[in-house]
Amino acid sequence: PFCFADGQLISTEKASLHPMDLGLIRGYGIFDFFRTVNFKALFLDSYLDRFFASAEKTFLPLEYSRAELKAVIQDLIEKNHLKEGGIRMILSGGVSSNHFSPAKGKLFIFAESLIFPAQEKYDKGIKLLSLEYVRPIAEIKTTNYAFPVWDSMRWKDAGAEDVLYHMNGNISESSRSNFFIVKDGVISTPDAHVLMGITRKHVIELAGDVQINPVGMQEALNADEAFITSTTKVLLPVTQIDEREIGTGKPGPVSLDLLAKFRELEK
Ligand code: PDD
Repeated sequence: PFCFADGQLISTEKASLHPMDLGLIRGYGIFDFFRTVNFKALFLDSYLDRFFASAEKTFLPLEYSRAELKAVIQDLIEKNHLKEGGIRMILSGGVSSNHFSPAKGKLFIFAESLIFPAQEKYDKGIKLLSLEYVRPIAEIKTTNYAFPVWDSMRWKDAGAEDVLYHMNGNISESSRSNFFIVKDGVISTPDAHVLMGITRKHVIELAGDVQINPVGMQEALNADEAFITSTTKVLLPVTQIDEREIGTGKPGPVSLDLLAKFRELEK
């Protein structure tokens, strides 16, 4: 495959990063990840908006315009024949004289094949394991996932698919996805300490009326339905939190209807 690095499209295995880059030695950098559907980048402007915002908020200069990035992405899709796949943009923290302050990072854009969760997970729903934790600078899409990568070994022991973060009784999100509940037909999603997911945004638009406010752990345990959203999962029903079954214990009608509507948007 080909990737974009050092200002050009090159063979992916030739891409390199300086070993003293803050991305490696401090876990400092930003990224974004979107899908291609039939050779077109899905919701590209929304992802680019977020990528530019992440760069600005992390004090990392991004020396490419939106139009330049779009042209590179289009080239990359064509060169990799990426009909249905994923594109990852990474801006590293750069090589810094004091090995600490944000510097001038290196931009990479990679084309990847996409692995969706198995159909069985959509049919049965998944289990989340709750954890008292809040992601630092949650609204910025940083490359720092050291904590969830480490923590994920624990979910597997508990037979859970992923984690559900909460603090002071309120839920924020999962490790790589946003969280929603449905109660008596009302859809709610947390408003704080979350990454503003692009899938979240489109699900909110599709639903028409979503309460964006604190969502309590007790509320979630007593909800009729729950689900998570992300670029790679789209909308995955949550049917268990810890040892508690959610609603009927099966994916609910509101979740399935929103998933079907999202699939229409992809066309
Ligand atoms: N994860 N919250 C977090 C912490 C995330 O890392 C992500 C994305 C989301 C969902 O955002 P979106 O709908 O824009 O993908 C929420 C990506 C897919 C990942 O790291 O795998």
